[in-house]
Amino acid sequence: MLEKPSVNQQGHLEIGGVDAVWLSKTYGTPLYIYDVRKIREKAAAFQAAFADLPVRYQVAYASKAFSTIAMIQLVDELGLALDVVSGGELYTALRAGFPAERIHFHGNNKSLEELRYAVRENIGAIVVDNFYELELLKTVSREIGKPVNILLRLTPGVGADTHAYISTGQDDSKFGFYLSTGDARKAYRAALTDDRFHLVGLHFHIGSQLFTPDAHVLAVQRLYKELEQWKSEFGWLPNVLNVGGGFGIAYTDGDEPTEPRRFIRPIVEAVLAECRARSLEVPEIWIEPGRAIVGEAGTTLYTIGSRKTTSGQKTFIAVDGGMTDNLRPALYQSKYEAIIANRADQTARERVTIAGKCCESGDILIEDIDLPEARPGDILAVFCTGAYGYAMANNYNRLPRPAVVFVEDGEARLVVERETFEDLIRHDLPLRDPARSRS
Ligand SMILES: Cc1ncc(COP(=O)(O)O)c(C=O)c1O
Repeated sequence: MLEKPSVNQQGHLEIGGVDAVWLSKTYGTPLYIYDVRKIREKAAAFQAAFADLPVRYQVAYASKAFSTIAMIQLVDELGLALDVVSGGELYTALRAGFPAERIHFHGNNKSLEELRYAVRENIGAIVVDNFYELELLKTVSREIGKPVNILLRLTPGVGADTHAYISTGQDDSKFGFYLSTGDARKAYRAALTDDRFHLVGLHFHIGSQLFTPDAHVLAVQRLYKELEQWKSEFGWLPNVLNVGGGFGIAYTDGDEPTEPRRFIRPIVEAVLAECRARSLEVPEIWIEPGRAIVGEAGTTLYTIGSRKTTSGQKTFIAVDGGMTDNLRPALYQSKYEAIIANRADQTARERVTIAGKCCESGDILIEDIDLPEARPGDILAVFCTGAYGYAMANNYNRLPRPAVVFVEDGEARLVVERETFEDLIRHDLPLRDPARSRS
């Protein structure tokens, strides 16, 4: 279920105590708004989920979901660790002043330059995805003259009940060392027997937008069958088990995700049970939610423009953004809910489809939604756009990327400026002086 929107006396949507219509007028549209209180609550809920469990733990934020300087500083303030997946995300984190030792670096094709950068900055650990990366890290270790802290990303052969594009734990995934082929064992041996590596732990990530812990539990069970053998063969198991992220959120009223406490407990209990049954030491358990920390905190505001009804009586309402600021509907057929923010107290009168302004028929933000009669100039608020919205934003059709505003306790703060047309051509190099006409 979605949280009920807050509506003020003027009938306007309020976010974090700030009038959404005022926000749209002050900062323009499209506009990403983050309700900071919700981010704080989610981070605290994941930390609290471990509080009464007999394990050491770490909660990291997967910054791919939404990475900006202000967000990373908030994550630091909340006491979370941080995952990055590229040199750019790492640069953002370091420029935000995030402590390097609390950063882990993921990715299935990190370049030598990215690995050098991460290791030289003394980040906490590299999560190694493949044999090529192990080779690159040997070079880096030689250059810096010390072992590199690593986790191994394992692929447990567990499919997740989610969209194929965000399922990552199955045997044909592009990510990680497969348990099923023996690659995981080979990588484990390679990491253990080479003094250029310091093996901190093992990692898996099953997939995203999961509503139950079942796939995580299954992955833990699969993994421990293997770990028991590794323990007897190599005589040692690392201290950390990172079980990834993927905790689902409510995008629509029909979505019923499991709250952090009820998601985490079965996973931890599965680890405890496996360790008990096999007389193995209980590892420190790490998680790395992205979407679940920021998704529900985000709302995108748009201005409604054109309207068109087809001969089949389908009505399109077009907004001033689209797949440029929210790629997820085009990429994964993701569903969203929305309201008209300047008439948030009115009941629905028509069924419409919300179209973006990009030159693609697939640029549809919401198919079939019931709204009060929408007019040009109305402000549309689309909920739960906080994860993978701004993060996946792009400049298709040369649309400038929107601004981002944090709101909390009635205060608004601009944290990312809106791009300008000038920004769009900043890296373009002309063939000739544009002032000189072509004759
Ligand atoms: C390795 C890894 N960890 C964590 C995440 C975060 O997933 P989510 O945002 O669904 O929690 C992802 C998402 O792609 C991932 O690949």
